[in-house]
Amino acid sequence: MRILSGIQPSGTLHLGNYFGMMHRMINYQANNELFCFLVNYHALTTVFDAGLLRQQTFNAACDFLALGLDPDKSVFWVQSDVPEVTELTWLLSNVAGMGLLERSHSYKDKIAKGIPASHGLFAYPVLMAADILLFGGEKVPVGKDQKQHLEIARDIAIRFNGTYGETFIIPEPDIEEDVAVVPGIDGQKMSKSYGNTLEIFADEKSLRKKVMSIKTDSTPVDEPKPVKDNPLFDLYALFLDEKGRAELEERFLTPGLRYGDVKKELFGAIWEHFAPYRKERERLAADKQFVLAAMKKGAAKARAAAAPFLEKARRNVGLDYRN
Ligand code: TYM
Repeated sequence: MRILSGIQPSGTLHLGNYFGMMHRMINYQANNELFCFLVNYHALTTVFDAGLLRQQTFNAACDFLALGLDPDKSVFWVQSDVPEVTELTWLLSNVAGMGLLERSHSYKDKIAKGIPASHGLFAYPVLMAADILLFGGEKVPVGKDQKQHLEIARDIAIRFNGTYGETFIIPEPDIEEDVAVVPGIDGQKMSKSYGNTLEIFADEKSLRKKVMSIKTDSTPVDEPKPVKDNPLFDLYALFLDEKGRAELEERFLTPGLRYGDVKKELFGAIWEHFAPYRKERERLAADKQFVLAAMKKGAAKARAAAAPFLEKARRNVGLDYRN
């Protein structure tokens, strides 16, 4: 099965990205054909500092490689290294209905947050559809916030096939309920734009500080603590197996639990979980040539995989005027 997904290098990658997408992608790698990419064209819709975009793209590549993405086994690349995706975006644009795009929650949310309304921001889901269709992605692991974007991609693929004949595979979203919305330290969805993230590779001091500031309610120590809509419980549960979760729930429901103690444990759990990757992350960051060579190889593989899909799309819409 061809598993495909992308991530924006528009900030430092966090636990929402990790559990919602990265960790799941890396797990799929053993038994599937994995296509994974860093969407720097998409990041241009919100990042207007060239130096920052360069740096964050490189950092995101290091993060993925350190966490176990194998650039030989899988196809891992930077979106702009396969610029054919922008050509396909144009072909798709003509079957992407205005009404469909106008209903995009993500577009409306971004405008509400003060991001300048631009054509790029509006056309974002069309570029995302091109990302998926250009490589024949069958299953797309994402967090819940991308659900509508996936529906738009499917709609565009169906309309394209209906208008021009069978061209694209219709992709299926892959959202896992347990990690569909990882909460941030304030209880809202963890997101770079809310400033509530726990970063995967944060340094010890700032990670501890952030974990200690996770929002908790004022239930007295000698009363049972809620486990529902409690970001401390939900975040800790991410690092536990089923048995560990049941035990944690039992502890929350037993009077006497102190949130401060749980926060210290959670800090330890996060720090331990990423310990094996942290060293590798440091090594990669210092070996720029290795990382760049891996990305170059990935782009070549991605380009080869894209060629037949793009050629078919060009032919089916009638750009092959020489024939
Ligand atoms: P992005 O960069 O915002 O996020 C990357 C992935 O992380 C997931 N995610 C979360 N999952 C659970 N809880 C959270 N708090 C959380 N925060 C982020 C996102 O759902 C996503 O899966 N438009 C996409 C990138 C993209 C893409 C694609 C994805 C571009 N082209 C093609 C799939 C296929 C985005 O902005 O993700």
